[in-house]
This record gives sequence, structure tokens and C-alpha cells, in this order.
Amino acid sequence: MLEIVNVTKKFEDKIAVNNISFKIEESEIFALLGPNGAGKTTTVKMIAGLLLPTSGNIYLSGIDVVKKPLEAKRMISYIPDEPFIYPNLTGREFLSFISEIYGIDNYDDQISELSEYFGLSQDIDKLLVTYSHGMKQKILIASAIIRKPKLMIFDEPTVGLDPISVKKFKVYLQRLKENGTSILICTHILEMAEKICDRVCVLNNGKIVYNNLVKNIYLDLNKNLEDLFFNLVE
Ligand SMILES: Nc1ncnc2c1ncn2[C@@H]1O[C@H](COP(=O)(O)OP(=O)(O)OP(=O)(O)O)[C@@H](O)[C@H]1O
Ligand SMILES: [Mg+2]
Repeated sequence: MLEIVNVTKKFEDKIAVNNISFKIEESEIFALLGPNGAGKTTTVKMIAGLLLPTSGNIYLSGIDVVKKPLEAKRMISYIPDEPFIYPNLTGREFLSFISEIYGIDNYDDQISELSEYFGLSQDIDKLLVTYSHGMKQKILIASAIIRKPKLMIFDEPTVGLDPISVKKFKVYLQRLKENGTSILICTHILEMAEKICDRVCVLNNGKIVYNNLVKNIYLDLNKNLEDLFFNLVE
């Protein structure tokens, strides 16, 4: 469903992403791992159409994201690591606005359902400027879900979420997966990658140093993900 082919991104003389290729299947939860500066955020920004690759191609359901950015963006929801949120909208107004932009019908019930699920019901009619960091993160997660994209991209989604919200987020990801959504998560939390992801891909200095199904890591290497990670990047 997503195919990255020989993608490189240079910032002047810095090669942030160095000739990487990988695929994400339909209904796959895919973890992009790697130390600080490895190239994870640069990679997902290229997929989301916020950065142009220096070379290489990115296809989403066969559509070239560079040549047909609007078509591709319609199929993707991307929650960045440092998101912008409209401070003067209420939570409900923000979710309605996103639903309207993306042509989602009958969204009122889903707004109520998602705000209840993520424990935001009491605050859904308050201005976003009054939300805590975790509350903003949850409203952004809800805005990604409400769009029903084919591919959801989350850059460090659980930073700032309390343990109950993290659990709820993970449970919801399984539900999305069952409905056919593909999910790409950049994370430093190896335990989350190991428990909820189908596949892990490890970047180091802009290169892919490992890409395998989680269930095969132990069989292949007789190692858990943490041991593997330290071996790869240290
Ligand atoms: N706009 C930019 N201009 C110049 N260099 C950049 C730019 N954006 C990223 N880089 C460089 O590209 C490399 C990869 O950065 P990136 O943000 O993709 O890493 P990351 O894997 O997301 O790291 P982290 O885990 O810290 O979020 C880093 O060396 C970074 O300094
Ligand atoms: Mg990053």
C-alpha cells in the first residue's frame, strides 16, 4: 500500500536519508525506529508530502506522492511530533473543521464517541488553548481517526500521554488495523514496537539497518528487540 523506492534526502551537505527502500502492507502496523537524528521524521515528512525527496520515489496505493500530492494527501493522516493546533477553536470545532475539509459525513456521533473514548468529553467544548499537552495530543489522534485515511502516520504519538491514554491508543490502533488501515509509527519506545507492531524497521545515520516482521526477530536472531536495537546502533 505504501512503497518507498531508493529515497534520499539531502539538506545541503547533510544526507539525512540515504537511499532507503521499504514497503508497508495494508493493515500493517509498522514501527520506524532509530536513534535521535537517524532520519525518521525526515522520512515521514516526505511520505506526508511536506518535504520533497532529493531522489527516489514514494508510491501510495500506486500513486506517486510527488507527482500527485493532493490525491496522496487525501489518503494520509499525519500527526507530527510538534503539531500545530488552532488555539481559538474548541475541541469539537476543530474535529468538525477537519471532518468538513476532508468531506466526512455525519461526524457528530463520531466526535462524541472519540471524545468519550479518550476521556475528553468534559473538555470537548473548551478552547484548545486551555488543553494540556496530552489533551492536545489526544484531540489530534481523534482528528486523524475521524478522517478514515488509508495510511496513518504518527511521529512519537505517546509522548505526554498518561498510561491509560497510551493503552487506549494502542487498543484503537488494533481496531483500525482490523478495518484495513495501515499505520506507521515513529517511536523510541521499543516495548511498544515489539508489542503492537507487525514490522519494525531500524534507521541509523539515514540508512536502513534492519527491517523484519516482529514475529521473526526472535526466530531469526534469537534476540529480543531491545538486544537487537543495541547491537545495530551502538
Ligand atoms: N530542515 C533541516 N535542515 C538541515 N538538516 C536537517 C533538517 N531536518 C533534519 N535535518 C537533519 O537530518 C537528520 C535526520 O533528522 P530527523 O529529524 O529525520 O531525525 P529523527 O530520526 O526524527 O530524530 P529524533 O529521534 O531526534 O526525532 C539530522 O541530522 C538532522 O539534523
Ligand atoms: Mg524525529
